[in-house]
Amino acid sequence: ISKVVIVACGTAAYAGEIARYAIEKWARLSVAVELAHEFRYRDPVIDAGTLVIAISQSGETMDTLMATRYAKEHGAKVLAVCNTQGATLARESDAVLYTHAGPEVAVASTKALVAQITAGLLIALYLADVRGAQPAAELQRLGLELLKLPAKVTETIAIAKIGEQLGETFKDAKSVLFLGRNVGFPVAMEGALKLKELAYIHAEGFAAGELKHGPIALIDQGQPVIVIVPSPNAPDSLNAKVVSNIQEIRARGARVIAIAEQGDQSVADFVEQVIYLPSTEQLLAPVLQVIPLQVFAMALASAKGLDVDQPRNLAKSVTVE
Ligand code: G6P
Repeated sequence: ISKVVIVACGTAAYAGEIARYAIEKWARLSVAVELAHEFRYRDPVIDAGTLVIAISQSGETMDTLMATRYAKEHGAKVLAVCNTQGATLARESDAVLYTHAGPEVAVASTKALVAQITAGLLIALYLADVRGAQPAAELQRLGLELLKLPAKVTETIAIAKIGEQLGETFKDAKSVLFLGRNVGFPVAMEGALKLKELAYIHAEGFAAGELKHGPIALIDQGQPVIVIVPSPNAPDSLNAKVVSNIQEIRARGARVIAIAEQGDQSVADFVEQVIYLPSTEQLLAPVLQVIPLQVFAMALASAKGLDVDQPRNLAKSVTVE
């Protein structure tokens, strides 16, 4: 294959964005992530050298199904990442990687997302392996880090309870902004989506590097901003760059909650609260980072007396266009 195109909708598309960082970095393959409903009507350029990865919890999302049919008609191979045994998407694809997250009762995707991100990381490692894109020792190291994640997820679920206290604090917020950088960017967008879905609060996720190009105009006194802080070990001084963004928004009155790595001393002085998560490899961190954001959305929805499992106007599986 010469390129990968990931198609999905909603939360599954953010899992795809996260997979993109890992596939490009580890497997050295070019990846595009497309919302399935945009992809199918855009006359996209795909051929037999394209691997299309369709991500869907339900495997019944109409737009994702139609996008994969289009891809197959144009000669691409389709790999489904799906949580539902025997779903239409799984049956129609050339291969399927089941996420095995178990039935997801709440309408908004939560544990399915954690499993989708993990599946994306496994696909990235597999592609890196078969393409010989990374030394075997590096792949082994990354694989071992992945194996440590279940215990760290358990730890993170306990830590994320801090997020529950934030429900009362921010329940009257009119808008909440989320900032992330690199693989933290799709995490920020997912945090915003979760808040819209559960708490009906306007929310936007931004790439931290984009702050100066517009979003900083939104910051005034009391504006809540959730920042996903890259590990101090992340390359390219990403940690320092995001800490500098925090200082900029703090100076303009933002109330900042940071999601940072345990042992990171750089943020505490500039924020209202830090949620410290177990340390892991940079590209694996989203598996942990999405959890406190899910708890945050749940806490705000609960504080507003809303039904977190059955939000208004949403359906678990969108089987129409
Ligand atoms: C609906 C759900 C979302 C989900 C999206 C994609 O909009 O409310 O939580 O992310 O569909 O669903 P899928 O089953 O394709 O992952």
